[in-house]
Amino acid sequence: MLAHYDLTDQKVLVTGGASGIGLGTVEAFLRCGAMVAINDLPGEKLDNLVARLSADGHSVIAAPGNIGEADAAADMVGGAIARLGGLDYLINNAGTPGTSTPIPAGDFERQTEAFWELLLNVNLLGPFRCTRAAADALRAARGAVVNTASIAAFGGGGSSSPYCATKAGLISLTREWARALAPDVRVNAIAPGVVDSDWMCRFDESGNYATDNIPLQRAGTVQDYAEAILFLAAGADYISGQTLTVDGGLTI
Ligand SMILES: NC(=O)c1ccc[n+]([C@@H]2O[C@H](COP(=O)([O-])OP(=O)(O)OC[C@H]3O[C@@H](n4cnc5c(N)ncnc54)[C@H](O)[C@@H]3O)[C@@H](O)[C@H]2O)c1
Repeated sequence: MLAHYDLTDQKVLVTGGASGIGLGTVEAFLRCGAMVAINDLPGEKLDNLVARLSADGHSVIAAPGNIGEADAAADMVGGAIARLGGLDYLINNAGTPGTSTPIPAGDFERQTEAFWELLLNVNLLGPFRCTRAAADALRAARGAVVNTASIAAFGGGGSSSPYCATKAGLISLTREWARALAPDVRVNAIAPGVVDSDWMCRFDESGNYATDNIPLQRAGTVQDYAEAILFLAAGADYISGQTLTVDGGLTI
């Protein structure tokens, strides 16, 4: 059962909101009565989702744009804030592993310049671009930012070393921005573990998740992660600069 907040008239932008954790977060905010701008890469996935949610009576707008590109990210955030009429919560959730099969840490050949650039642009610079473009509106609203990092940031193997580094960087920036935007805006992050989503990178060819080493014995649902994001955004009045690990106990 998800926590509930009355977020009537509150305005939210969720990046990477057309699937997975982002979509779960969009739905959680909509259930609380918020107006939500859904960002994702331009295309039918986003258009169809917004059409479906609008037809169901929800207050949603599409905010298409690639956060991995500087101008596209800034324009997307500016446009979303203009159409929403302000911004209370920015959820920097979009991210990419950039590979459909894990790249071992020692496989330097596959860690190309182009691969690094993609991951840095989407996973690290993307959240920066969105936060910078949203900062004034968030300050005015005394709002909050929540970043989606990963337990990959803590070591022990993610989809690639560049991915781990971008997520560790995002945890560092969570603290930096918490100081930078205080006292008006709180900034926090979640570090998800195994996610039951359409994530591009599969660690197991069967498509199943190895859950034996997760104390809670299951992958996290997108609702598990959305609940933590909702709490850090709309609750958690005295929490800033923190990264909440949500992993069923995997890293304990
Ligand atoms: N799936 C996992 O195992 C896992 C684990 C830890 C953290 N995460 C993080 O969770 C977040 C959400 O991932 P998910 O599991 O829900 O995956 P997902 O693939 O279901 O959703 C990611 C969404 O982001 C969008 N996106 C990708 N690049 C984008 C860009 N440049 N601009 C705008 N949108 C873009 C995709 O189109 C997709 O809709 C990511 O930041 C990811 O790094 C995922």
